[in-house]
Amino acid sequence: MRTDLPQPVRLADYRPSDYLIDRVELDIRLHATATRVQSKLSLRPNPNGVPGAPLVLDGDDLKAKYVLMNGAQLDPSNLFLTPDQLRIDVVPNEPFHLEIETEVDPTANTRLMGLYRSGSAYCTQCEAEGFRRITYFLDRPDVLSVYTTRIEADFREAQVLLGNGNRIESGTIEGTGRHYAIWHDPFPKPSYLFALVGGILGSIHDRFITRSGREVALGIYVEPGKEKAAAYAMDALKRSMAWDEEVFGREYDLDVFNIVAVSDFNMGAMENKGLNIFNDKYVLALPETATDTDYAQIEAVIAHEYFHNWTGNRITCRDWFQLCLKEGLTVFRDHEFSADMRSRAVRRIADVRTLRSAQFPEDAGPLAHNVRPDTYLEINNFYTATVYEKGAELIRMLKVLIGDEAFRQGMDLYFDRHDGTAATIEDFIACFAETAKRDLNQFSLWYHQSGTPLVQVETAYDEQAQTYTLDLTQSCKPTPGQETKQPFVIPVAFGLIARDGTPVDLQSSGPDAADEKECARDLIELTTERRRIVFHAVPERPVPSLLRGFSAPVRLETALSEADLLTLVAHDSDPFNRWQAAQTYATRQLVRAVEVVRAGHKPAYDEAFISALLRVLDQSSDPAFTAQVITLPGEADLAREIGNDVDPAAIHGARVALRQAIGEGLKPNLLKIYQAMTSEEPYSPDAASAGRRSLRNAALDLFCAGSRDEGLELALKQFESATTMTDKIAALGILTQYAGTSREKALEAFYATHAAEALVIDKWFILQATIPEPETLNRVKSLMQHPAFSLHNPNRTRSLIGAFATGNQTQFNAADGSGYDFLAGIVLELDPLNPQVAARLLSAFRSWRSLETGRRTFAEAALRRVAGVAGLSPDVKDIAERSLG
Ligand code: TRP
Ligand code: ZN
Repeated sequence: MRTDLPQPVRLADYRPSDYLIDRVELDIRLHATATRVQSKLSLRPNPNGVPGAPLVLDGDDLKAKYVLMNGAQLDPSNLFLTPDQLRIDVVPNEPFHLEIETEVDPTANTRLMGLYRSGSAYCTQCEAEGFRRITYFLDRPDVLSVYTTRIEADFREAQVLLGNGNRIESGTIEGTGRHYAIWHDPFPKPSYLFALVGGILGSIHDRFITRSGREVALGIYVEPGKEKAAAYAMDALKRSMAWDEEVFGREYDLDVFNIVAVSDFNMGAMENKGLNIFNDKYVLALPETATDTDYAQIEAVIAHEYFHNWTGNRITCRDWFQLCLKEGLTVFRDHEFSADMRSRAVRRIADVRTLRSAQFPEDAGPLAHNVRPDTYLEINNFYTATVYEKGAELIRMLKVLIGDEAFRQGMDLYFDRHDGTAATIEDFIACFAETAKRDLNQFSLWYHQSGTPLVQVETAYDEQAQTYTLDLTQSCKPTPGQETKQPFVIPVAFGLIARDGTPVDLQSSGPDAADEKECARDLIELTTERRRIVFHAVPERPVPSLLRGFSAPVRLETALSEADLLTLVAHDSDPFNRWQAAQTYATRQLVRAVEVVRAGHKPAYDEAFISALLRVLDQSSDPAFTAQVITLPGEADLAREIGNDVDPAAIHGARVALRQAIGEGLKPNLLKIYQAMTSEEPYSPDAASAGRRSLRNAALDLFCAGSRDEGLELALKQFESATTMTDKIAALGILTQYAGTSREKALEAFYATHAAEALVIDKWFILQATIPEPETLNRVKSLMQHPAFSLHNPNRTRSLIGAFATGNQTQFNAADGSGYDFLAGIVLELDPLNPQVAARLLSAFRSWRSLETGRRTFAEAALRRVAGVAGLSPDVKDIAERSLG
């Protein structure tokens, strides 16, 4: 048993490593249960370190075979070896060599960190601290080394042997049935970017010519037989490479770029230098197995990992507190890529939906943390929506504040100045302060203060004086460890709209002299707690369109009337705010309806809203956008809006009733849209065709909410005749919402057709886990016994258990606490197998304090039950304790 309690790591305690490792030569002989890892390290004292300090290498669960320094055995009194550490107290004050052999068991590695097996293949995952599960090392991102890796395996077990960089040699070992490959990566890198793969794999190959004319060999490796399903990923890769050259001036730097898809993977994908390893969910796609959303995600994740080659690999992080330096920036880059590949407005809406549903609750609850944290117990728990999604928003905001040109110059300066090094957020910001010639200290607060700021806006029109006044205030609630906040710099992109829907010309309306800058840029910089802006010569009360394009990650509260919102829905030139106005309108109605439902009555709905949706449907010129407008805020969105004393059952009731009212009110229009938006053959995953499918399916869903029997008939017909997974799963999703034999038959038929495709069965799990009926918990429990389910596989676990916990508001939050008990039990069962995934599941409790008392009491009891168990992993212990706060 471990008696050493995990100690918090603090940013303030950072000091450079006392030693550096210039070269690493690895010889890895793969074996299912006893892989031998020989590591030869060329070390030297770090001129910035403490002279004569002991050498302390990290390990995790390692078995050492031998250790040699400069070819000789060490005096036993000078060598301290445990599974978690290798320490040498007396070290030469000059360059020296260390040779270490360890033995690891990849088959027993259920954590999927370090060297493990996915099916019969061997693969690695080293970020953040997995390399220390392979060999003893200075496993920290500011130690950069050049790696040469020899991989040896039984040919029947692993015909394909892949490593980082370029393959420099390969051959067979006579008479043994074994072969080897040697890979060399000339770019110094931190250990978390190390990777190897060995297995029986199929592959597809292509090439890319960089703009300076170098040829790069591209390969994607998949389970044999799945090669065709990798074609879209390959296409996305080539488009990513071209885009990064064009938009950021970044060229690829090795002769080879390989991607391997595996089915057992803790997260989405990993940017290992020259050898990206992917969750196969983000590689494999055929029209019959993947939805349009899957295609879009594949494109985004392929781009994300590729873009890391510059933002993450060439320039890496000094320490793990700087995680957002690579992740926030790379998410920003992949968002921009997707916006360029598809509809910018629709992408922006989708990205903001994700930010609000995944990050806002984090910021509003006990797990709130800075985009750049200053302390952690377990770094795995900081791969969060705050670091990734809010981190990306900060980059977007920086660009809005300093303008496109200074932003691009700042990026160029960053690449020039920090290439080949391990950098910090301060290094990054300094580049933009320089190119924009602007003090960015206040902007930096976004990295150091957690919580979502609230911007409140009051307006006043003075008819006599013909002035229009905007009063803006900002505030931010306390978050764990941060009672008070300093004001943020908040860029509020805006415009004013006249009653006839035309934009008010801000130049000629003559604002206060001090505000001219704002009017020229259509941007208010809110830097203080309050700010007033007065517009002159405004002939009638305008409607303000604020926070256009979601120019800052804040909550906005305005006193706009319903009529104002409808003006925005109809006329705003900013599509994001057109969508937002419809969402705000729906949210207001739903929040009122929740109170009515709670009081035991049936809510009534406002005809004006339904007519506004009708106009949107009728004028639909961009189907994907229209689909977004007619999709109501989700139950979790409403829970967040309500904020406290949340009753998920009442929220569900209110939403069902509004959907029914819309479905009834727009019946003929929805049917017309459904019939007009037929899919073309053959299937194309492009944004325009996907948009038509999404509008068609959103229309069917609402139609069904209003006219159940007719709707189900259409859904069944679509389910039976669908040629694409998009249409098939949409129909099944609708059928699944309504209890009865047609649901069970459809679910059975779906399973029978797709039983062999694990990624498709995941969709089947998700649909069943999210049924808003009391029987669902039992269904989930019995599905856990289904042969297709395994708690060992993260995708299966996320699809069944994760979807229940985060996608089923009424049943996870069942009033009797059964959902909470169930999740607590699963987390405890999974923790010894895979603590990283277990901790992530547990974070479904993050909003427990905002629930009504009954549920809150049950949720707290479940969390306490987890926290009280002895021998928890640091991952689960950390989440349980912080959640209880
Ligand atoms: N760096 C990876 C990315 O964002 C994600 C990642 C971090 C990861 N840690 C991981 C993936 C552990 C799998 C397992 O692209
Ligand atoms: Zn990333």
